[in-house]
This record gives sequence, C-alpha cells and structure tokens, in this order.
Amino acid sequence: MKKWIVLIVMALLPVAGFANEEGVELESANIDLSDNAAIQRGAKYFTNYCMGCHSAKYVRYKLMEKVGLTESMIKDNLIFDGSKVGGLMKIAMPSEYAAGSFGAPAPDLTLEARRRGSDWVYSYLKSFYTDPSRPTGVNNKVFHNVGMPNILWELEGIKDPVYKYEVKEGTETVAEFDSEAEAEQMVKDKGEGFHVEKVVSGFSKRSQGKLSDEEFDGVVRDITTYLTYIAEPVRLEREHMGVWVLLFLVVFTILAYLMKKEWWKDVH
Ligand code: HEC
Repeated sequence: MKKWIVLIVMALLPVAGFANEEGVELESANIDLSDNAAIQRGAKYFTNYCMGCHSAKYVRYKLMEKVGLTESMIKDNLIFDGSKVGGLMKIAMPSEYAAGSFGAPAPDLTLEARRRGSDWVYSYLKSFYTDPSRPTGVNNKVFHNVGMPNILWELEGIKDPVYKYEVKEGTETVAEFDSEAEAEQMVKDKGEGFHVEKVVSGFSKRSQGKLSDEEFDGVVRDITTYLTYIAEPVRLEREHMGVWVLLFLVVFTILAYLMKKEWWKDVH
C-alpha cells in the first residue's frame, strides 16, 4: 500500500523535478522516443547490464511488444531468470544484500528518468571516474560518492579525473585555476574568508574500452531512451495503478473542494 502512494506521488512529479544537487552541468541526452530500435537496444542493455541489481518492477517485459518485439524475441533476448513475458520486471537480488555490498540499495529504475530527468541519467552513466578512496574504486561527477560500481567500464574504458581549483569567498567562486599552488597563493594574498575547493572539471582517458567514445555515447543514449520510455506514466502497471490513481484523484478532488469551501466561506 505504502509503495503505491510513493509511486503515485512520483508519477505526479514533473519531469526533471529534481534539482541537480551537485550543481554539475548536465549533458543533453538528445533522445528520440519515437525510435523503436533505440528503445529495443536500450531494453537489451538494461536487462543485460543493469538488472543484476536494479528492477523496473512497475512495468512488464511484454511492454516491449509495443515497440516491435515479438513474444519469443522478448523471451530469448530479455529474460534470463525464467520470468513470464507477461511478468513484471522484478529481480531476485534483495535490496538489503545490495545495501550491504554497496553501502546503498540499488533503487528500482521504473521512474528514474522521470524523477531525475533524462539528461541526468545520461550524464550520470558517463560520469564515473577512478577514485581509489572509494570501496568500488570509482566515484561519479554527477552523483558524488555513489555506491554503484562503473558497470559499463569494459565498454567505455577507464577515466581519471581532471581537477580544477576554485577560489571561493564564502560560497561564491571568485577565480578558477588548473594549478593548486596558484589557487593557494591567491587565498594567501586575499587572506581571511577565502578558501580553495577542488572540483572535478573533466576526465582524461587512461584506457579505451571495447567501444569508441561515439559508440559508447550511443549505448548510454539507448539505455536512457529505454528508461525514459518506461517512465512515461501511461506505461505504468495499469491493472494495479489505474485504481489507485483514480482513487487518489477522487480523494484529492474532494479535499480540494472542501478546502475551497472552507477558505471562501467568510469572504462573501
Ligand atoms: C552491481 C550492482 C549494480 C548494477 C549492475 C547497476 N547498478 Fe545502478 N546502482 C547500484 C547501486 C547500489 C546504486 C545506489 C547508489 C547510491 O545510492 O549510492 C545505484 C544507483 C543508480 C542510479 C542512481 C539512482 C538514484 O539514486 O537516482 C542510476 C540512474 C543507476 N544506478 C542506473 C544503472 C544502470 C542504467 C545500470 C545498467 C547500465 C546500473 N545502474 C547497473 C548498483 C548497480
């Protein structure tokens, strides 16, 4: 029951309702939701690379029939755990196990693209970099200290961070340097109230993966297209969802009506 309320509230959130807490600039995902082939490829990557940890349990595998896959294609290419084609995209890995292994549970991704925005998802998957201080050996520019390992590293290759040094007066950035020494010097000259902050400004490739950079962007774009497609509210589990959404709307309408009456009763 609680789950449904959360889901409904999330479904009502505007797309990209989350501000990007790190203040990091996002890349445009540039997706095309009418590109069925991209959605099909995205589904394949998702089931292969992501469903070891993440579910998409508010949609059914069968949804991919809407973008042109047949039942047997779905069975042969997307289902590895004996689930039915009409079954929900659940996973076996209990989230407590994931929480233990990665310090955080791997969340369900049905509504992720709606919750964070497609650009966020796209940028996130491209922003892993090496960080030996982390248990997974990687960090993420868009999601600082994330618990997820860089699952796609074999395709992408390995990226080291490139830092810049921002001189700040309080919270405001007053200058940027590539060299830490120069930034420290400025702080010394300016004195009280200034400090240096080290931020990841970009990446340098340590080694290339199996794919070229363009090909890798394509894979990430396909995954993002798929996640955006399934996150559209119309595709949510209808039999279950429909009832609750309607109930919610009815209750909400009654409440709104009562409140309006209450507010206006003294005005006339
Ligand atoms: C080995 C397990 C594992 C695999 C495989 C995995 N993830 Fe994750 N993922 C995690 C964990 C754990 C978190 C939570 C990290 C945290 O909160 O610190 C996470 C977080 C995320 C988030 C951010 C969730 C949020 O809080 O908004 C996204 C998006 C995501 N994963 C996408 C993917 C995609 C796409 C794939 C497949 C390409 C994938 N993940 C594969 C473990 C995994």
